[in-house]
Amino acid sequence: MVADSQAIQTRQLSKVYPGFFKSQQVPALTELNLRVDQGQIFGLLGPNGSGKTTTIKLLLGLINPTSGDALVMGQPAGDQETRRRIGYLPEESYLYRFLNARQTLDFYARLFNMNRAQRRRAVDYYLDFVGLDPSVRGRRIGTYSKGQTRRVALAQALLNNPDLIIMDEPTSGLDPVGMLEIKNMIMRLKDAGKTVLLSSHQLADVEDVCDRLVILYRGRIELEGALSDLLEKKDVFQLSARNVSDALQARLAELAAAEGATDLRTGRARVRLEDLFKELVARKRSGEGR
Ligand SMILES: Nc1ncnc2c1ncn2[C@@H]1O[C@H](COP(=O)(O)OP(=O)(O)O)[C@@H](O)[C@H]1O
Ligand SMILES: [Mg+2]
Repeated sequence: MVADSQAIQTRQLSKVYPGFFKSQQVPALTELNLRVDQGQIFGLLGPNGSGKTTTIKLLLGLINPTSGDALVMGQPAGDQETRRRIGYLPEESYLYRFLNARQTLDFYARLFNMNRAQRRRAVDYYLDFVGLDPSVRGRRIGTYSKGQTRRVALAQALLNNPDLIIMDEPTSGLDPVGMLEIKNMIMRLKDAGKTVLLSSHQLADVEDVCDRLVILYRGRIELEGALSDLLEKKDVFQLSARNVSDALQARLAELAAAEGATDLRTGRARVRLEDLFKELVARKRSGEGR
């Protein structure tokens, strides 16, 4: 048995989609070496067409690599036993429009051989987890908003209490509140000890949640690292404080310049618009008693 501390490991994983003529072949992924530790939240970033979905499909064993290999929980990608420990949120979820959320999840719970009592418990537990409004749970999915549909799909992916959750563009098409809530859910999955691999073409979507990430471009890794390292400007020192008088500001600036500091910039600290928004939503929510 292979050591399991790595949730995902790929070696030179490559995928060329076949075309009728050689000139029509698409090299979607080229020699990808990926390592995701257990308990990590790992971001697979890149613009549209950079190979994110291809990577995910290879990891799930839904398509075969052209060369190279992938291990998931120490087993070859697509291994049947391992699949039970993986939850998958596809880029587009195909849910039955005429079933409601409860019926939908109950259907999938049956596939996991849960008995009636287990199904009822799991269905409500995960619909609560993803925060689907109880008043819509009995309404058919065809009438749901994009955010509500996404929540049902995520609940479905979590239903078998997987150790590894793979999400393809979990925040796509969501408004800022929905996006924020998905991020919070991902953080809660991390707290529960889960490993999460998520893809996105919008960096801001995943900035707050990823421990590590790679950025793909045309099927190759262009950038890789811990989020904190990647975002840190190594050569810039920053000082911030309250109650700084004009005189002190002037002296600090003078001192820095005298000591050879360059590109000196002083001014008021700014918050990011996203943080401002987050705060506002949190305040509203606590006011509503949620
Ligand atoms: N089934 C397929 N047949 C041929 N080409 C494909 C197929 N699926 C994806 N591609 C191509 O492979 C590249 C990577 O696609 P994809 O993995 O879906 O990217 P992403 O998820 O990052 O948007 C794109 O150029 C895309 O057009
Ligand atoms: Mg994709």
